[in-house]
Amino acid sequence: MIILFGTELAARIKQQCKQKAECFFTANGRRPSLAVILVGDNPSSQSYVLGKRKACDLVGIEHRDIFLQSHTSEADLLKLIDELNLNEEVDGILVQLPLPSHINESKVIDRISPAKDVDGFTPINMGNLLIGNKCLVPCTPKGILRMLDDYGISTDSKDVCIIGRSNIVGKPLAAMLMQKNRNATVTVCHSLTNDISHHVKGADIVITAVGKPGMIKSSMVKPGAVVIDVGITMIEDGSAKGYHWEGDVDFESVSSVCSAMTPVPRGVGPMTIAMLMENTIEAAFRLKERNL
Ligand code: GUN
Repeated sequence: MIILFGTELAARIKQQCKQKAECFFTANGRRPSLAVILVGDNPSSQSYVLGKRKACDLVGIEHRDIFLQSHTSEADLLKLIDELNLNEEVDGILVQLPLPSHINESKVIDRISPAKDVDGFTPINMGNLLIGNKCLVPCTPKGILRMLDDYGISTDSKDVCIIGRSNIVGKPLAAMLMQKNRNATVTVCHSLTNDISHHVKGADIVITAVGKPGMIKSSMVKPGAVVIDVGITMIEDGSAKGYHWEGDVDFESVSSVCSAMTPVPRGVGPMTIAMLMENTIEAAFRLKERNL
């Protein structure tokens, strides 16, 4: 059984990004820049934003973290996005999700300029992804596929079971896997799927993004399958740090039947951040090319 760490590959990609960021600086006299907006004080979101800031510092991307109070109005958030869209010194805009319930998430995402949408969540980028056109691609699905490539795990003609139908992971990942360069046969399970075990059991590759610790057990997994755990739940404990992270997969039991699996943490998470760095640099170069 191979443990598929994302840390080392992510570090390599960030080094490549650092070189590209340096080229951008030489050509344009400023660094690529990313604006990250966090509304409210969700501890998991705060931790993710901190991770993104650290990566930007390492790579040489200028980051602007904008922290807004949880009662910020939708109108104020939309106004801020309008300003960032027009700001020629901002290349990427990321609104950390989830947003407080009084804010319409779709409306906010749709307001981001597709050229600066480094999450790849706008309808324009999602639509282009589905069609198979070049676009900014959501970071977690992109990171998962990059990781499979790096470990030499092909998706050609494989049965892939995705658990979770979110716009962040499940839906874009399914769209990418069914393209002609990936050639997978994809099943997407969700909270109202009749018999998730049945679908997982038939899969060569299982990708779970639910947020329910220990939900995938060894009895559900086909011997020799590849298991990718995107689920990440913050568990408060009595440790010095105060918490630890747990994935959707019961690591101990599943590791005895699968051929390869990602750990939590140090699996998919670092790849998501590395892909965000890549997307920000890609957006920066493309905006300059198009003089936007
Ligand atoms: N919340 C959880 N994952 C993500 C992500 O990839 N991007 C954004 N914007 N919010 C998230």
